[in-house]
Amino acid sequence: MEHLLDRDAAQQNPVDFDHHSAGHATNWPATFARIRANSPRAWSEHHGGFWLATRFDDVIRIGQQPEYFSAHKDYDPATGKIGGGISIPPLPGLRGVPNETASPEWDGVRTFINRRFSPKSVEAFRAKAQQFAAALIDEVIEKGEFDIVEDFTNPLPALVTMELFGFPLSEWRAFADPFHKIVYTPRDDPFFAETVRGLDYFNQRVAEEVELRRKDPRDDLLGHLANGTIGGAPLDAETIQNLAFNILAGGVDTTTALTSNTLIHLAQNPEDRERLRNDRALLPFAREEFVRYFSPIHALARNVTEDVEVDGWKFRKGERVLLAYSSANRDPDVFEEPERVILDRFPNKHIGFGAGMHRCVGSFLARIMFEAMLNEVLDRIPDYRIDEDRLVRYPTIGNINGCIHIPATFTPGKKVGAKIA
Ligand code: HEM
Repeated sequence: MEHLLDRDAAQQNPVDFDHHSAGHATNWPATFARIRANSPRAWSEHHGGFWLATRFDDVIRIGQQPEYFSAHKDYDPATGKIGGGISIPPLPGLRGVPNETASPEWDGVRTFINRRFSPKSVEAFRAKAQQFAAALIDEVIEKGEFDIVEDFTNPLPALVTMELFGFPLSEWRAFADPFHKIVYTPRDDPFFAETVRGLDYFNQRVAEEVELRRKDPRDDLLGHLANGTIGGAPLDAETIQNLAFNILAGGVDTTTALTSNTLIHLAQNPEDRERLRNDRALLPFAREEFVRYFSPIHALARNVTEDVEVDGWKFRKGERVLLAYSSANRDPDVFEEPERVILDRFPNKHIGFGAGMHRCVGSFLARIMFEAMLNEVLDRIPDYRIDEDRLVRYPTIGNINGCIHIPATFTPGKKVGAKIA
């Protein structure tokens, strides 16, 4: 009980914290450093009120007790009523499966997909990721300029995810764009509802391709969704949609955000770029350090299922808690010099891929895609420079901390003849 919290006092003195605000997007490391030091277990009145966990130990403890802190989401399309889930404020409609489920539903679904995402299974996509990275750089290399997000870090994870599903690669933009936009369009933006509707096309295409694979089975993820079973029963249409939604959402924008931020860092820190360029054995360590430092998934929520106390912090049933992975990953009690990128940091027990049962199923694939992109840039356009005046970051980083545009120039080079399809 080292950190007893007087919950009434905390609620009477809330912190002015809104992870979706423009101020937070530009100043989050300092904001979290202040909150961690002064009120690490804080109450915010924004978005209906929620607890904010900023310390590494608290985020882990809560993440590892899903029976009390559930990610489960209820959604009633008839009334539009939403309960729970991983977003604060709640996202209308969409329910990520397995992310927004609890046991026993989670156990069945997670077991069903685990095999497709094991290190061995995803290794089969490394050559594809390298091929796509080479082809995307081929498209820009003679021009000497590109937009890192538009031309590279957004298309590559989308293409690999299309390949994993078994969708035609030509459709990547129609699928990835709504997912990319949904994470950075502020909820109060008049275009938010329209952006959410952009997912309808994806849902329709999932249904069509699943139908095709029922008649003509194929060994891709869509085939697995169409013909696989959970507990001996085929998946119902809703579970298929929600699973596909969760995997695409997980696959397309997170690795984009990680690689975009990494490429900005390397442009701004030429000594790190040179070190990495000359010593690729560093890449696996640097990769984990960038996941820690940027924490692409900024913060996610849990929902208190019954009154419970965690290390002196009392929660009441029905309350919501935001797990700030990004803050936990810079907790000075756990990481030395947390505000500095140390390429060969080891050990590095970051929780950028989450903690507890919902820990990222796609982490091995994400690592493969990240490495393919980094190697391609360091090999072929190592002198790239970013036009910082035209760099556009997400206006809200409450879900994912990424960028919309990163214009860059480099010394032109020659194509290697790589093709996307
Ligand atoms: C750098 C890239 C990535 C990061 C930083 C990341 C981060 C995370 C985090 C923090 C969670 C935990 C969610 C929670 O606590 O509620 C998670 C879960 C998940 N991720 Fe990722 N992710 C990445 C890439 C991917 C990829 C490539 C895929 C799939 C293609 C994926 C699919 C998922 C799914 C399905 C879950 C839910 C797992 C469950 O609830 O059991 N992620 N991810």
